[in-house]
Amino acid sequence: MNNYTPHEQFLLDNNLHAESGIRRYRLQVSRNPAKFLVESTPTYQGPRNGNKRWDILNDLIQHHGWTLGAEIGVRKGHTQFQLLTENPNLTMYAVDKDVSQFHNSESVARFGHRMIVLEGDSRHMAKFVPHGSLDFVFIDADHTARAVKVDLKAWVPKLKPTGWITGHDVHMKDVYDVATRKFGNIQIGPDHTWFKAPDDNYDFLRKIDSSVSQL
Ligand SMILES: C[S@@+](CC[C@H](N)C(=O)[O-])C[C@H]1O[C@@H](n2cnc3c(N)ncnc32)[C@H](O)[C@@H]1O
Repeated sequence: MNNYTPHEQFLLDNNLHAESGIRRYRLQVSRNPAKFLVESTPTYQGPRNGNKRWDILNDLIQHHGWTLGAEIGVRKGHTQFQLLTENPNLTMYAVDKDVSQFHNSESVARFGHRMIVLEGDSRHMAKFVPHGSLDFVFIDADHTARAVKVDLKAWVPKLKPTGWITGHDVHMKDVYDVATRKFGNIQIGPDHTWFKAPDDNYDFLRKIDSSVSQL
């Protein structure tokens, strides 16, 4: 008789997700009582042969031809800069309560108006973004349950009907619980990313998966 939590059992049973068809991330369930319940070992081998959050986001952006997104929680700009560099037609809202971490003369010179910087609490910054305008949102700010809930409430209405909600650190229980409670099904990707596509249409992720050797 094991003593996995429902969260751990769910991931183990489904090799991440019942609907995913994505089976390339070997799971190790940590018995460490720390908040990290599950660690995945990604072996994502998309076109850029990367396994970071920006690699899967770049693939999605290019596949769908997305031109407008928002990153909620930018810190030093690791994801933001990668996305803007790899996708010349992309404009991003860069939302953080402390933009001094990434917003400086160098980033302005590199990306100009393609990076729209919104400094302040993420829920309030959503006011500056038109409803129904975004191709995707990447939620990666405060990872407490309350904050994730607030961010989803503020930012989901900003998506186009075809827009995807994406996020980071789904291995953290609060993030996983809030996302699955809100959406029912989510898709889990490399580097602890998670996705909710409109109408659960994950064909592109499945396509990537089928080109990757199974573990
Ligand atoms: C995990 S880091 C983001 C990492 C970044 N997305 C990346 O991929 O490298 C979290 C960031 O969220 C910001 N943050 C946390 N709570 C916030 C809030 N309520 N409103 C706006 N920004 C917030 C922090 O200042 C920090 O820079």
